[in-house]
This record gives sequence, structure tokens and C-alpha cells, in this order.
Amino acid sequence: MTEKVPRAQYGAQRMMAGAEGKPVAIPMQYPRIMGPNCMKYLQEVVDSGLTVDMVGRFEKAFAEELGVKHCIATPGCTPALATLAAAFDFEPGDEIIVSPIADYGTLQGLVKENYIPVFADAAPGTVNLSAETIEPCITDRTRAILVVHMTGIICDMDPINELARKHDLIVYEDACQATFSEYKGRLAGTLSAAAGFSFDSEKTMGSDIGGCVVTDDDELAERIRFYGQSRGARQEPHFGRRHVVPGYAYRMPQCTAAICLGQLEIVRDQVVHRDKMVRLLTSLIAEIPGITPIPIPDYLNVYSCWMFGFTIDPEQFNCNAEEFAKQVQEGGVPMADIGKMYLMPAACTFLEDMARNKTYPFSIPPASYEYSYSADTCPNARDYLENFVYWPTFCAKYTEETCQQVAEIVRAVADRNRR
Ligand SMILES: Cc1ncc(COP(=O)(O)O)c(C=O)c1O
Repeated sequence: MTEKVPRAQYGAQRMMAGAEGKPVAIPMQYPRIMGPNCMKYLQEVVDSGLTVDMVGRFEKAFAEELGVKHCIATPGCTPALATLAAAFDFEPGDEIIVSPIADYGTLQGLVKENYIPVFADAAPGTVNLSAETIEPCITDRTRAILVVHMTGIICDMDPINELARKHDLIVYEDACQATFSEYKGRLAGTLSAAAGFSFDSEKTMGSDIGGCVVTDDDELAERIRFYGQSRGARQEPHFGRRHVVPGYAYRMPQCTAAICLGQLEIVRDQVVHRDKMVRLLTSLIAEIPGITPIPIPDYLNVYSCWMFGFTIDPEQFNCNAEEFAKQVQEGGVPMADIGKMYLMPAACTFLEDMARNKTYPFSIPPASYEYSYSADTCPNARDYLENFVYWPTFCAKYTEETCQQVAEIVRAVADRNRR
């Protein structure tokens, strides 16, 4: 159920009765809407005999669109965040405070750099952490805060940045699910020292794969290229490459950059549409007794919404979230599912194994005390996800009619299972 679904299977969509009795499917992201220039840019890569710098062009275009100084393209967000973790160059055993509702890709790099993830709880009733939940997690080993803007809802960044300033901590963003969401008029990914994005085929700006790091910090950008792309090598006269740190070769392919560039040309309009659709769907779902859609904070000007979700009140229904999600999917919403796998302290069992066995960096030293990880590490996040139903790609193709249909499907499931 929680495996990534092969794209070929996405074709099978249940047909529903539309407004005039005509069958209408709830659309999915596949086949993706492709920017009209994607093929032109791909053709340029081939026609140039691989001499065109499509990656450079995409980096420049994405940085301009975001209004940041640097974009460093990578093969995905997992490598983007891994590159950042390496570039920060903290000490083994240093702690990074992380959102508990996240993706493995959020954590992979910092774990591989031998940093210790410390999960701050989600704010009650939401998918994101907050300054209040972060503060008790700060210790003398904390070096950074990695916030995840889950589903496309940007964390409340002003108090988080204020707290970080007080404690001299770096803040950075996992903006994978929030491409072109806006917080008080400022875009996701521009609200901290740096951010990672994903252009995986499922994502809001879906290419075949891909991602990037963005930052305004010249020195950090240079370090990211050095650690993440140049394999930590410096050119030395009379010798050649000297690898002074064990860096990575996480470079975006030129063909991926061509598709990214084409997709960038259409994504802003799609995001405006997503925002309109998710707000409509949220208001319709909120009318169903016992169902609470993910709350949209007032400060969120634009919600690019990569996934749509809601919680069910267990007191009001005879079934649990898993059964509810199954019935929503059977009712016609493709890929409706439960979201427990996003609870990182429970999903990443290797963390508890390492902590229990005191595997490096959980040995003391470099750690200075004992850690443990389980679903109970973050009870707010655990309780929220216990009753959470979502589908992963609230797509740019929804219409007002789609939103009405989806709300009717959810209402029918709710009424059928009401106590
Ligand atoms: C919040 C979050 N972070 C990181 C990732 C990893 O991104 P990628 O697949 O581009 O490596 C994902 C992908 O699903 C994600 O949703």
C-alpha cells in the first residue's frame, strides 16, 4: 500500500457520473501536463551534441523565478539536502532539529553526515512543527533546524527564524511539497539560509526526476558545488584533481534540465489553480461532520498543495482511517491512503536500532547522551497521522466539479460509517 506506484498503473481511473450523467474520472497527475517547450529544449540538448548548458539555463531561470542568488540543480531533493548537510560541515554527533512528519529524503543526508536528527513535535492538529515545539528540543549540540513544509503548507517561519537567531542556529527548508507556495508574500525556499526542492515526476513541478538547492549565500553556494558536484576535488597545478573531502557527484542531467525548464514555464499558473482548487475542496470537506481538512493558516497567501488530506474523528465513525481511505479510493479517488509512513521517528527504524546499539554517531562520544526513536517521540504528530487520510497528488487538473465530486465521495463514506 505504501510502495511508490509504477506510473503505468495510474491509467486505471474509476469513472464517475458527472453533472449531466456523463462519466467523469477524478483526474490524476499522470499523464502530466507538459510545458509546450519541453521537446524544443530536449531537442536542443541532442542537436548541440551535448554542448548546450541546459542545466545552467535552468538554474538561472529557477533562481530568477524564486528571486534568489543561487540555484544548484541536483538529481532530486534527497541529494539536494544531502549536499547541504555536507556543505554545512557540522561535527559528528551534532543535532539537527527536524520536522517529525517528513520523508526519508529529508533525513538521508544528515544521517549520512553523522549528525543526529532530533524530532520536534508537530503543532497540535497540524502537519508542521512550530517555534513552540522546536524550543524544548534545543540543546548545546543543536546546530540547525530543518523545517519541512508538509503538503505545501509553509511552517510559520517568522517565529522559527526568531528563535533560531536567539540560539545562533541555521534554519533550512525542505520545500519539496511546497514549490511556489507563499508565506506572507514570500516564496517557500526563500525563508531561510537555504532550501531543497524536488522535481520528481509526481511533484508540483514534475520533471522525469530532479531537484535543486537554492540559497542567497555565496559562500554556501560554492561549498554546495564543491561538496555536492565536484566530488570535493580541487585542481592542482602539475598534478590534477586532489579530493580534499569525500564529496558527491550529484549533478542534474541535461535532459532533465530541459524538461525542468519547460515545466517551469507553466508551473506558476498551475499553482494559482491548485491554490484555488484546494481552498474550495477544503471548504467543502470542512462541511462534513467528523471530518477536518488540513487547516490552511491565514499567513499562507498561496497554497501550492502537493497532497490533499483530512483527519477523521474516531469518536464519530465505526471504521479507522485505513478502512476510510480504502472506501474513499473505492469510491473513485485514486491513491487515497493513510499517512502513517510520514511519521519519521517510527518509519526510520534504523534510527532506533542505531541509538539502542550506540552505533556511531550515537556512541558516547561523539554523542553526549542517549537518544530513542519511536512513534511516541512526537505524540501530536502520531495522533494526527493516526486518523489521517490523504492522496498524494492533488493535481493541477482538478475543476470545481472535481472538488464537488471528491467531497461527495468523502461524504458518502462518512455517512456510511457514521456511528
Ligand atoms: C518532504 C519531502 N522531502 C524529500 C523528498 C525526496 O525528494 P526526491 O524524491 O526528489 O529525492 C520528498 C519526496 O517525496 C518529500 O516529499
